[in-house]
Parts: sequence; structure tokens; C-alpha cells
Amino acid sequence: MFQADKYELYVKKIKNGTVIDHISAGYALDVLKILNITGKESNTVGVVMNVQSKNIEKKDMVKIEGRELKPEEVDKIALISPNATINIIREYGVIDKKKVNLPKDIKGIVECGNPSCISNSKEPVRSIFHVQIVEPIQLRCHYCNRTMERKDILKQF
Ligand code: CTP
Ligand code: ZN
Repeated sequence: MFQADKYELYVKKIKNGTVIDHISAGYALDVLKILNITGKESNTVGVVMNVQSKNIEKKDMVKIEGRELKPEEVDKIALISPNATINIIREYGVIDKKKVNLPKDIKGIVECGNPSCISNSKEPVRSIFHVQIVEPIQLRCHYCNRTMERKDILKQF
């Protein structure tokens, strides 16, 4: 495809690993942070920012050789980029493609920013947030109503 070819010029196809595609433009570095990729690891990582997508919107992309993502990592990516797709690559082919899933209620991934919240007490209460705004993400604590925004959430990742 014409537009796909345009960004293939920036970062070539990978052999085995994961391509995180359709990341909201400007959020690739947040995805790297979520995955704890610092550049000091040995695997090859390709990062593409602000390239034309098939639709009008621009997107970011992260390609990682030799790594598959854990479900917890995919759930975190959903919080900052709800339209991202996770492509598993084997021998240059896409063998699996999944859109990330942002549930209505976020359980146990984010800690409440309110120190007095029951979810931060010694009680075994798991955090629960309701998604108020999808993008940029805004969550509201089920217990104390504290609002958590993208920057608050990223500090924890
Ligand atoms: N890709 C890659 N290396 C491979 C295979 C695919 O980097 N060996 C990248 C492609 O460049 C693309 C993404 O992985 O950005 C998904 O590949 P593919 O499903 O072939 O592309 P599309 O059909 O355009 O994907 P979608 O429909 O999800 O936009
Ligand atoms: Zn709370």
C-alpha cells in the first residue's frame, strides 16, 4: 500500500518479535517506558513517530526484535493508546494481531494518588478506576473519586 510503503522506508520489517502499531501519535516514548526499554538492552528496537496512517490521523509505531509482551504490559499500553494493535511476528510474517482492550473499569493496574484512599490502606482492597475519558485517559477512583490523568499514571509505570 502506498502509505504503508512510505513509513517502511523509515524502519524495516522485523524477523521475530512484536510490532506495536497504531500507537496514538506522540506516545511511542511512553510505550517504551511501559516496556522498560531504555536502549541499553541487546535487542533491536525500531521507533517511528508521527507517520501517516491509512486514515487521516498520524500514528507512532514500536518494533521490538525477539520479544513478546506480557498481558500486563498490553493492558498498560491500552491505557495510553486505546487503538494500538499488537502484532506478533515470526519469520517476517504477522502470525497474530490483536487490538489492545481498554475495559470500562481498570482493576489493579494503577494505584490511587490519594494516600488516604482505602485502596492504599493495609486492607486487601484492590484499586478500581472507572474510565471517564478514553483519550487522553482520565480515570476516577471507585472508592474516593480521585481523578488520575495520563501523566499521573505514567509516573507509576
Ligand atoms: N511489520 C513489521 N515486520 C514484519 C511484518 C510486519 O514491522 N515482519 C509491521 C508492518 O509494517 C505493519 C505492522 O507490522 O506496520 C502490521 O503488519 P501488517 O498486518 O502486514 O500490516 P497492515 O495490514 O497494514 O496492518 P493493519 O491492518 O493492522 O493496519
Ligand atoms: Zn482512591
